[in-house]
Amino acid sequence: MEQKLRSRTSLASLAVVIIFVAGAISKAEDGYRLWLRYDPLPRQTIESYRPRITSIVVPGDSATLAAIRTELVSGCSGLLGSKVPVADEVNRDGAVIAGTPKSSPEIGRLGWERQLADLGPEGFRVRAIRLGRHSVTVIAANTEVGALYGVFHFLRLMQTLQPINRLDVTQKPRMQLRMLDHWDNLDGSIERGYAGRSLWDWKALPENVNPRLRDYARANASLGINGSVVNNVNANSIFLSAEYLRKVAAIADTFRPYGVRVYLSPRFSAPIELGGLKTADPFDQEVATWWKKKADEIYQAIPDFGGFLVKANSEGQPGPRTYNRNHVDGANMLAAALAPHRGVVIWRAFVYDAKPGYDRAAAAYDNLQPFDGQFAPNVLLQVKNGPIDFQPREPFHPLFGAMPKTQLMPEFQITQEYLGFSNHLVFLPQMWREVLDSDTYAKGPGSTVTKIIDGSLYGQRLTGMAGVANTGSDRNWTGHHFAQANWYAFGRLAWNPDLASRQIAGEWISMSLTHDARAADTITRIMLESHEALVDYMTPLGLHHIMWGGHHYGPAPWWDTEPRADWNPVYYHRADDRGLGFDRTEKGSNAVSQYYAQVRDRFANLNSCPEKFLLWFHHVPWEYRLLTGRTMWDELAVRYQRGVEWTRTTRKHWDALSGVIDAQRHAEVAKKLAIQERDSIWWRDACLLYFQNFSKRPLPKGVEPPAKTLEEYKAKSLEWK
Ligand code: GCU
Repeated sequence: MEQKLRSRTSLASLAVVIIFVAGAISKAEDGYRLWLRYDPLPRQTIESYRPRITSIVVPGDSATLAAIRTELVSGCSGLLGSKVPVADEVNRDGAVIAGTPKSSPEIGRLGWERQLADLGPEGFRVRAIRLGRHSVTVIAANTEVGALYGVFHFLRLMQTLQPINRLDVTQKPRMQLRMLDHWDNLDGSIERGYAGRSLWDWKALPENVNPRLRDYARANASLGINGSVVNNVNANSIFLSAEYLRKVAAIADTFRPYGVRVYLSPRFSAPIELGGLKTADPFDQEVATWWKKKADEIYQAIPDFGGFLVKANSEGQPGPRTYNRNHVDGANMLAAALAPHRGVVIWRAFVYDAKPGYDRAAAAYDNLQPFDGQFAPNVLLQVKNGPIDFQPREPFHPLFGAMPKTQLMPEFQITQEYLGFSNHLVFLPQMWREVLDSDTYAKGPGSTVTKIIDGSLYGQRLTGMAGVANTGSDRNWTGHHFAQANWYAFGRLAWNPDLASRQIAGEWISMSLTHDARAADTITRIMLESHEALVDYMTPLGLHHIMWGGHHYGPAPWWDTEPRADWNPVYYHRADDRGLGFDRTEKGSNAVSQYYAQVRDRFANLNSCPEKFLLWFHHVPWEYRLLTGRTMWDELAVRYQRGVEWTRTTRKHWDALSGVIDAQRHAEVAKKLAIQERDSIWWRDACLLYFQNFSKRPLPKGVEPPAKTLEEYKAKSLEWK
């Protein structure tokens, strides 16, 4: 008896322990839940929302409708702190109805067909209305995925404490293809990935699909991201094999309910490697037939397959030029294979090849601009935001505006290859906005990059925006908690490229971190300042590509050992006794001539060139006076110092938020900020010591003396682990 009792007590205490541990785990703020946390809102907000959300009405049993139901129930119940029941139909005030005129008889009877028709396949309408005797909220769309987007919008309004009682919102995405490009390799590694391993476990697929893939798709759907290229642009042919197509199909099945289509990066030489052909020449009939058959096979397995993202004749990748054909020949041959299935080819403009005296910044334009008007209707040209390669700051790519008869889509890098990996807090929409808002003058003033890519300037039919993903197997998805904000921001901008960074930051903070207004103010400021600060301590005044070779973490302006000149920092900064910077004016490479006259003249003239691009376009004498009245050398040093000071102040401000932000994330971010401060000092010292060899000038007042010698900085790169 006693024995029994004792074992019962120990069982009971074990149960308590289990419950406690489970509770602790479910409360753990490890970042896994991203911006979809759904913890109870402040009490007052709950009280105002509660009468408007008393039941969830989502009839229908498709996978997407089930996802909508689950999301609404867990979102509303979580945010309101009490379970919201599901009902079959509206039978009380406060019902939330979601679906399409087909899936929901009540929506069908509203007579909204005409309004919905204007919203296309992905838009939605959210309205507070009276339905019979009841006041309800309707979330309606033409398609179930559109309704899902509407549901996430509704939940976002709640998560950001917006009023919901007079809702009348209609939205549709401005861009059609809103895509994440994953540079994921066959072996599970990720090129330029800093958040663990690939999310796709190729060995386990197709039988075992990691449940996390559903959460990935769900997170994307919450932003409206509707495409995912699952393999690296430096592609392996294996991904097109029957075996791997089955695996990719399993991924596609998981993503489908959330409206995320799968794309692949095909290796251009796959007909040789997989098909056993002697050539991959796009003019060879057998090659074209091989691709057609391959496309048929892909669509057999994945009926809604999105298409191909192609890196060809770039950095060693095979392509049409390997066979003396051109980019159009290659792209259009693949496009012909996909066209019967309505697939697209996204051809990358990241092409540069060494010719004597060439400037890498001019290469993509030189290579692709002449083909304007020749690409097939289902081809888009994917252009990096700037002409070099995802630097902390670049002027906009001169191809934007220069190909009126070609469908261009921008490629941003969400992963921070050149911006401190997942160690540095930097809010990237600040940088992306700069590019989107840039005026190309292609059709006179006001011809912004946004207007080119959203189709409004040249009427391009297919539109899109791509971001190189920063996700990985790390529990918090992105390595740095704040790097989640960049994934979030990318999705929001792809949906609406006019959104202000401040708004995006505000939303993300409210959804992911805190509703505390003062804390939110501090964090917003940190986020909005972060990009300029990073530019200050890495590459001020238009410097670029002065990172350590290969991995690109930390400074190495002295680097000159790469096999190609244009992979070396010395190629880009051109420091000498006279001054610093790359002369891209008429006297130099004349890359500036690729811009429209108004832009060209502004950049080309030393006096009108924005100082943030000074050393990008000009070789500037050390003693040249800037707007501050300081010499270029002094200004350079002051900016490096300013960047360091920002990291220090930011650490203090973040520390002061202890107790407002949950302990785990607070501590983890604090740790990263310490690394960021260390790195900023390293950057400042290494760069200034090195450039000082040329400027032969002392550091100006207020700039701290370097912590180590140049030799020490040169001896070993910064560590990022
Ligand atoms: C950069 C990056 C490469 C990548 C390439 C690309 O050069 O360092 O890793 O493959 O961009 O965009 O294709």
